[in-house]
Amino acid sequence: MFAAKASDAANGTVTRAIAVTLRARRRAPPRPYPVKKFKSFSDVIAQRKAEARRSLVVQVNSETSFNELYGYCSKYASIKDIHHYRNSEKEHFMLIEFETEENVKEVIKACSSHQKDVDVMPIESPFLWFRAAVNKKELHSCLKTKKLATKDGIEPIDDDLLYEELLNCETVTQQIQHLYERTKLNDLGVRLRYMVARQFEIIFKSLYANVAVQPFGSSVNGYGRMGCDLDLVLSNVITEEMSDARRRLVYQEKREECAGGGRGGARQLELLGMLLELRVPGAGAVRRVLAARVPILKCTHHLAALHCDLAASNTSGVYMSELLWQLGALDPRVRPLIFVVRRWASAVGLTNSHPGRWITNFPLTLMVLFFLQQKRKSGFILPSLKLLVDRAGKEDIRIAEENINCTFLRDLNKLPHEEYGQSDEDLHTLLLQFFEFYAQFDFKEYAISINKGVPIRKPNALPLYIVNPLEQALNVSRNVSYEECERLRAEVRNAAWLLEEGLEGKKSDDWGVLRLIERKDSRSLKQLLKVGNSHRLVSVKDLFNEDDEDVPVTKSKKTDAEVDKSVKEMSRVTVEKKEQKIKFKNSQIANEVYRIRRNKIV
Ligand code: CTP
Ligand code: MG
Repeated sequence: MFAAKASDAANGTVTRAIAVTLRARRRAPPRPYPVKKFKSFSDVIAQRKAEARRSLVVQVNSETSFNELYGYCSKYASIKDIHHYRNSEKEHFMLIEFETEENVKEVIKACSSHQKDVDVMPIESPFLWFRAAVNKKELHSCLKTKKLATKDGIEPIDDDLLYEELLNCETVTQQIQHLYERTKLNDLGVRLRYMVARQFEIIFKSLYANVAVQPFGSSVNGYGRMGCDLDLVLSNVITEEMSDARRRLVYQEKREECAGGGRGGARQLELLGMLLELRVPGAGAVRRVLAARVPILKCTHHLAALHCDLAASNTSGVYMSELLWQLGALDPRVRPLIFVVRRWASAVGLTNSHPGRWITNFPLTLMVLFFLQQKRKSGFILPSLKLLVDRAGKEDIRIAEENINCTFLRDLNKLPHEEYGQSDEDLHTLLLQFFEFYAQFDFKEYAISINKGVPIRKPNALPLYIVNPLEQALNVSRNVSYEECERLRAEVRNAAWLLEEGLEGKKSDDWGVLRLIERKDSRSLKQLLKVGNSHRLVSVKDLFNEDDEDVPVTKSKKTDAEVDKSVKEMSRVTVEKKEQKIKFKNSQIANEVYRIRRNKIV
C-alpha cells in the first residue's frame, strides 16, 4: 500500500516534469536542420590539436613510475589521463594529458632545462624526462584509484594472434571488420602524431613568424594502421590581422631570392633539415629528398617511435586527406574495405615500403573509392567528387599553393541521404566485387577518376592512370611500370579466385581473408609443407619420419652430426629426384605447369 502511494507520488512528479518539458518544447523555435550526423574534419583536427596543447610526453624509468610522476605533476596541475607506451628500444614513456593548456604552461615553467655538467644547449619542447628523486622525502604517490589510461599503448597486435582471431571469426565480413578494428591507428597513436607536429611547430616558430605544422596522409585520413608513417606539412597561417593594411609597422623580411625560394625551396628545406638534426629532441636519421615533385625531409623520431616525412608548402595534401577522410566517414564499410585491400596488396607484394615502380597505398585507396562510386541496383555507396564540388558553398572555398582549387562540400550533413550509403551489400560481397571489378577493368584504354566516378579515356599510354582528384592533369600512379600493372591485374584475378575458393567446403586454416593477407612467402612455404589435400602442416618431426623412404632409417636417437648428415642425405635424394623430373621438362605438361607458375609468380 505504502509502495503504491510512493509510486503514485513519484508518477505525479514525472507527469509534472513531462508537462513542463512539453510546454518548454512548445515554446522552443523549430530546429532549422535535423540532428547532425557527421562531425567535420576541421572539428576533429581542432580537437586533436587542443589535446596536444594540453599534453606532454615524459620519458620514465618504467611503467611503475606512474605513481611518482602522477604525484609530482599534480603538485603543479590537474591531470586528466596518463597513457604509457614503449618505443622500439623498449624505453618507457608517459603521455600526460592535463585538464587545461594553462596547466601545461605551469608544468613547463617548473622544468629544469639541463644538467650543469653536460654540454648541451637546452630547448623548450613538449618532450621531457623524469629525473630520479634527489632524496626519499620527495617521493610522491597518488591515490590508489588513479590508474594508467593505457599501458603499452602503441604495441601493434602480434600477427599470430591476429591470424588466430581471424580464424575464429564466423564470416568473412566479420573477418574484414575485425582486421580493421585490430590494426587501425589507435587513439594514443594519433595523440603522439599530434605531439610531434606540435614539437616541430614550436621549434620552427623560432625561425618563421606565421607557421603551422599539420599532420596529413594516413595519420589523419582514417586509413592509417598502427605504426604508419607521419606525413607533416609546414604551412603559412595568414590571419586577417596580419594582412590588415591599417597596421603600419611591418616586419622586415628576408627576400626569397636570398633565401633560396619560398618555404618549399630546397635551401629552406636544407635549413629545416639542419634544425631537425641539431635542435629537435628525438628527431634523427634525417634524409633530404629534394628532387621529388613535392620535396620532403625524411626522419625518424625515436621518442615517439615513428617515421616522419616533412614537406614544406603542400596544403593540397592536407585537403586531399580531408577529402579521403570525408568519404570514409560517409559509409561504415569504406574504411574496413580499404584496410583489407591495403593489407592484401602488401601481402602479395604489390605495395612495398620503399619507393619504386609499383603502386602505393594512396592510389590504391583511390581505386577502392572509385569502385564504391559505381552505381548499384539500390544506388550509390559513395558520391563522386563532382557532386561534393557542386554542393559546395562559399564557406567551402579553399585554394592551395599554385592555385590548386580544393573546394568541395565540407559539411556532410548537407548531403542528401540518397546520394550515399545506398546498398546493403556486406563487406565480403564488396571485397569480392572489388576484385572482380578490377579483374575486368580495361586498364589499357581507361583511367580511374573519383571526380566523376566513371572510367574516363586515358590521355596517354602510361600503363596505369589514376587521376589526382585535386589536380586533374596529374596521374598519381605515373611511376607504375607495365610489369607492375600486369601484376596488379593478375593479383586481383587471383584474389577473386582465392576468395571464392576459400568459401567452398569446411573452414580451413586459411579460410576467407586469411589466404589474402598472409604474406606470399609464408603462404608458399605453407603450401610447400602441406601434405596432399589434408590441409595439415608437416611438422619438423614428420620430416624425419622413419617410415619415409627418402630418409636413412635409424632407430637410435640421432646426434646433431647425424641429423645434419640425414638432412644432407635427404636433400641429395631430393635433388636427384628433381633432376629426374627435369628430364621430363620438355613434355607438354611440364610446359603447361611452367606457364601457370610463371603467370602466378610474375
Ligand atoms: N598525396 C597526394 N598526391 C600524391 C601522393 C600523395 O596528394 N601523388 C597525398 C595524399 O593525401 C596522401 C598523402 O599525400 O594521403 C601522403 O602520401 P603517402 O604517405 O604516400 O600515403 P598515405 O595515404 O599516407 O599512406 P601510407 O600509410 O602508405 O603512408
Ligand atoms: Mg603516409
